[in-house]
Amino acid sequence: MFITFEGIDGSGKSTQARRLAAHLEHTGRDVCLTREPGGSPGAEEIRRLLVEGDPDRWSPETELLLFTAARRDHLERTIEPALAAGRIVVSDRFADSTRVYQGAVRGDLAEKVDRLHSLMIGREPDLTILIDMDPGVALTRGLSRNSGEDRFEEFGQAFQVKLRDGFLALARAHAERFVVIDGMRTEEAVAADVAKAVTARLDP
Ligand code: ADP
Ligand code: TYD
Repeated sequence: MFITFEGIDGSGKSTQARRLAAHLEHTGRDVCLTREPGGSPGAEEIRRLLVEGDPDRWSPETELLLFTAARRDHLERTIEPALAAGRIVVSDRFADSTRVYQGAVRGDLAEKVDRLHSLMIGREPDLTILIDMDPGVALTRGLSRNSGEDRFEEFGQAFQVKLRDGFLALARAHAERFVVIDGMRTEEAVAADVAKAVTARLDP
């Protein structure tokens, strides 16, 4: 099973992906916890080009190519081998991030995003958990990490508002694989809903 977490910056995806992986391992499952951009040595190198530096460093088009290159490497070297070995893959972001950030908000590249995806990636998650969050709270949480990886946070709150709408629209368009979870609660409350959504699909 291939599970992805999506949502705006600072919404709690990494926290929840970690918690879900620990929960599944606790119940005896073999889990591969990974992330994008990154998740393989080559893709982690590309990640640095994307998340550090000036917001205007790349055009939306160049960004789309870099994210797709990183995803292809991640898919070939990490995701597909893990799925083939029967492991559950939990990824912090995947192709829906490109659909929203590059396809809908950063540039109007929706058609190019879809064409590149079918040409080079061609895989969808079995389940996507969208952590939905107020952009103001998420931005404060995200920037307070001082991670040095704030290139996208630097685009500001109006950008995050558009991202949230973009993710919610995507969830409506792909209701068969999306579960939307309210992220404005304690970590534990969010994690309980995530575990419920995953268990319902693992043991129907
Ligand atoms: P993302 O991966 O979506 O950017 P993180 O999981 O890194 O988000 O969380 C961003 C920050 O918010 C971190 O400092 C994290 O500890 C904190 N955080 C995560 N979930 C919650 C929550 N439910 N309530 C309060 N703070 C949270
Ligand atoms: P991430 O490390 O998940 O950031 P955060 O923890 O702040 O949510 O991802 C880095 C940034 O890359 C994030 O701002 C979203 C952006 N991104 C895209 O624009 N397109 C993509 O395809 C992916 C995977 C991420």
